[in-house]
Amino acid sequence: MLIKSRKNWQLSENEATPLSTYKTRRDVLRTMGIGAVASVGITSAGVASGLLGLGEARAESLSYIKSAYDPNEAQTSHNAVTGYNNYYEFGTGKEDPAKYAHALTTDPWVVEVAGEVKHTGSYSIEDLIRPHQLEERIYRMRCVEAWSMVIPWLGVPLADIIKRLEPTSRAKYVMFHTAVRHGEMPGIGRPVLSWPYVEGLRMDEAMNPLTLLSTGLYGEDLLPQNGAPIRLVVPWKYGFKGVKSIVKISFVEEQPQTSWEKSASDEYGFFANVNPQVSHPRWSQASERRIGEFRRRPTLMYNGYGEEVAHLYSGMDLAKYY
Ligand code: MTE
Repeated sequence: MLIKSRKNWQLSENEATPLSTYKTRRDVLRTMGIGAVASVGITSAGVASGLLGLGEARAESLSYIKSAYDPNEAQTSHNAVTGYNNYYEFGTGKEDPAKYAHALTTDPWVVEVAGEVKHTGSYSIEDLIRPHQLEERIYRMRCVEAWSMVIPWLGVPLADIIKRLEPTSRAKYVMFHTAVRHGEMPGIGRPVLSWPYVEGLRMDEAMNPLTLLSTGLYGEDLLPQNGAPIRLVVPWKYGFKGVKSIVKISFVEEQPQTSWEKSASDEYGFFANVNPQVSHPRWSQASERRIGEFRRRPTLMYNGYGEEVAHLYSGMDLAKYY
């Protein structure tokens, strides 16, 4: 993100692939009783979170399915996906996250669920994710800075988790908070943004089948620079909506003010839908630099996901609600 002041996919569902590295260390710690946190123990598909025998837990977590989501475009190299990042808590340089984020303690990790929702409480990643089948979703990612990637994420649809948590009828938005770790995050000593990094989605956006809570990419757990252990992926929006290293998910009545809106509301709006027709005040959004490619390519409306999401914004003036 540039700071002002400082200037069609469908594959079959049952193509299972082993995920050798997923959560093995966590499984061991878990069996030893380390890293377990308070949980309300909600269940899904017959799996009782926090109460599984090890064998059963492993069977759940060692595989992911290759989902239907694949734009059939060349994937950005693993080196670039994990080496060219925005994660300002670790610095504003693109290489800072890869350099410094290994200091982030990601295990154990607790996500607080709060607000207008039945199952409030503190959840380990396992409690949130394990009852669901991990999927691979290959998505385009378009940064507001006009570069883009194609990334094979692993994760679960946010909608599935929201359904288990059972928001009340008053919940109109979902708000996400990132970790703030003094001592582990060298970037938070600088007033680049107001920490914690906060993001939000309208409930229908959060429930859209494209919206993913990701715990991995390229078949492995997320690295800290990509937002380990759990982050949001919203492929039709600019990348800054994809909040990393989530520690809190709140269900709220009012539209939350995001960190980027607070910092420069004229430049970074709440909706942040990829839109080649609405320029950023300081640069055009009509085209983008795909990392690894030589020539710029035109930017697609909703990053190419219009068929799935355009209905969410019908009747809205997209120049006003940017
Ligand atoms: N989340 C946090 N907590 N801090 C950040 O600085 N940067 C955002 C988003 N999530 C950011 C964040 C921006 S601007 C982008 S483009 C994406 O993360 C980049 O994700 P990536 O580095 O995994 O490609």
